[in-house]
Amino acid sequence: MTVTYDELRNLWLDFFKSKQHAAIPSASVLPENDATVLFTTAGMQPLVPYLMGEKHPAGNRLANIQKCIRTNDIGEVGDHCHLTFFEMMGNWSLGDYFKNEMIAWSFEFLTQKLGFKKEQLAVTCFAGDANAPKDEEAAAAWRAQGLQDNQIFFTTEDNWWGLADGGPCGPDSEMYIDGGKPACGPNCNPTCSCGKYTEVWNDVFMQYLKKPDGSLESLSHKNVDTGMGLERTLAFLNGEGDVFMTEIFEDCRLKLEEISGKKYVENLVPFRKILDHLRTAVFVLGDDRGIPPSNTDQGYVLRRLIRIAIRNLKKLEVNDFVLPKLAECVVEKYKKYYPELERNKHFIMDELEKEEQLFNRTITAGLKEMEKVLARVQNGQIDGQTAFHLYDTYGFPLEFTQEMAAEHNVKVDTDGFNKCYEAHQELSRKGAEQKFKGGLADHSEKSAHYHTATHIMQAILRQMFGTTVMQKGSNITPERMRFDFSFDRKMTPEELQYLEEKVNEVIGQKIPVTCEEKTLAEAQAEGALGLFTHKYDAEKVKVYTIGTVSKEVCGGPHATNTGDLGHFRILKEESSSAGVRRIKAVLE
Ligand code: ALA
Repeated sequence: MTVTYDELRNLWLDFFKSKQHAAIPSASVLPENDATVLFTTAGMQPLVPYLMGEKHPAGNRLANIQKCIRTNDIGEVGDHCHLTFFEMMGNWSLGDYFKNEMIAWSFEFLTQKLGFKKEQLAVTCFAGDANAPKDEEAAAAWRAQGLQDNQIFFTTEDNWWGLADGGPCGPDSEMYIDGGKPACGPNCNPTCSCGKYTEVWNDVFMQYLKKPDGSLESLSHKNVDTGMGLERTLAFLNGEGDVFMTEIFEDCRLKLEEISGKKYVENLVPFRKILDHLRTAVFVLGDDRGIPPSNTDQGYVLRRLIRIAIRNLKKLEVNDFVLPKLAECVVEKYKKYYPELERNKHFIMDELEKEEQLFNRTITAGLKEMEKVLARVQNGQIDGQTAFHLYDTYGFPLEFTQEMAAEHNVKVDTDGFNKCYEAHQELSRKGAEQKFKGGLADHSEKSAHYHTATHIMQAILRQMFGTTVMQKGSNITPERMRFDFSFDRKMTPEELQYLEEKVNEVIGQKIPVTCEEKTLAEAQAEGALGLFTHKYDAEKVKVYTIGTVSKEVCGGPHATNTGDLGHFRILKEESSSAGVRRIKAVLE
C-alpha cells in the first residue's frame, strides 16, 4: 500500500473522528508553563492537566498530530530512522474508553486503514513488577482480535510509559510489524534490534500518577494515550524504510543534491544530519513561540543543530551560506499544516543566515585547533577542559566535537566537559532564577498597571513599525516592566521619545480597560493579539480592550482605566537576543 503524507494525516484524523474524537491542533513545540522540559516530546505532554482530571474544552476524546522534538539521541541521527523532530499522531481518552476499545481500534486501523495483515502484527504487553500487575487484560484484548499467543510478548521496561520527570503514566502495549525476516535466534522478540520487527504504535493505559518520590498513586480516572510516529510509518508503508527517502524530505534532499553536486545515496550520513537538523531548526525558529540560537536552554540546542548541519555541509564541500535555501523547502512542504512557518519565515531565514555568518568566523580556526587536539590525544580521549575550550573559544558544541572525534576513533570526556560547562553556566543560572522569581504572577495593583502599560506600548510599537512587531517576552515586577519584542535594529532616540509620548497620551485620555470572555476563535476573528495556534478553538479566554488602541488575549490582571497608570518613562532600550529588542520602563 502506498500512502502520501497528506493521506496518512487524513487517515489518522478521519479514523478517530469516526470514533467521535475531536481533532485538536498541534501545540507549540516549545512548551508553555512547563519548566521541566525544553521541548514538547510527545502529544500527551501539553495534555497533562487533562490527563490528571481537568476538563478539556473539546471533550473526552481527542486526536491530533503533534510537532515533537527529542534531542536525547542527536548522535544517532545518520541512520535510516532516527530524527530529532517528528510528528506524532496521537489519540486520547480522558477518563472515557479504556483498553478493550483502544486495542480493538488499533487493530482496525492497522489492518483496515493501513492495510497490514493480521499475521504481520506482533505486540508487547506489560509483564508486571513490584508496582503494577501483569497486563493480562491487554493480552486478552489482542487475543480477542485474533492474535495468536506467539504474536503477544511480555516485557517490563519497554512496556511502561511516562515522562522522565513523573506525572501520569502506566503500562503500555506496543505494536510492531514483522517484516518477514527470519528470527535472529530462539529469543528473538519485537524488542530486539535485529531488524525483524519495526515498532509502529504505542497504546499507553495511563492510570497512575508517578509522584516525586517515585511511588505510584492511582488516578481518579483511567486514560488512554497513544502515539504513532508519522515519518516512520510513512517510510514503512511505502516500502522504503528510510525516512529520508519519503516525500517529506524529497524537495530538500533534491535541493541539497543540486547545491552540493553530490548524491544522497553516496553520502548518507552527512545528508541525513543536514536534512534532519535543518528541519528541526526550522520548526524551533518558526514556532510562534520561536527563539533564536543562543548559549542557554532551547537556544543552545538549536545552535548545536545548526552548527552540526553547517559542519556536514562542509563535508559535502559546500562552503556557501545555503541554510536559508534549504529551509525554504521545509517551509514550503509544511506551511499548509503549520502556517506559523510561513508567518515567521523572515525570522527563520534571518536567524539561519546570522548563525551561519557567526559560526563562519570561528569554524575555520576551530577546525585547525581540532587537528592539533587530535594529534596530541592520549588514551584515545579528549579531556573535558579541551572540549570546553573548543566550545568557549570556537563555538564547538560538545556533540560537534564528539562527531569529529568519533571519525578518528577518539572519545570525549563528557563528564569533564559538563563540569566545566556547568561552572560556566552557574552565573547565568543564578540570573535566570532571579528572572523566574520576578516573572511569577503577582497580582498587586502596581503590576496590573504595568500589564496595561505593556499592552499600550505593544500597540504603539505596532503602529510605528508594523505588525511584524510581536511580543517575545515580558517580565513585570511591582517596580518596573520589561518587554521583549521582535524588531531587528536599535530604536533611535526620536523613536523612543515618540513611543513614550504616545503611551502617555493614551494614559492621559483616561480610557476604560474592559475585559470580556470569548472563545479563541471569536477573539481571533476580532483581530485580538495573542498566540492562537497552540490553544483550542472552544476554549474561553479573556480579551482585554483599551478603547480603539489595543485588544489582546491575556490572563490579566489589568488596570480598570488607563488614567490610573501615572507617568510612563522608558529607562532603556537594548538588544535582548538576535532580532529581539528589550525595553525597560517605569510608571511614576
Ligand atoms: N506518549 C506515548 C509515547 O510517546 C504514546 O510513546
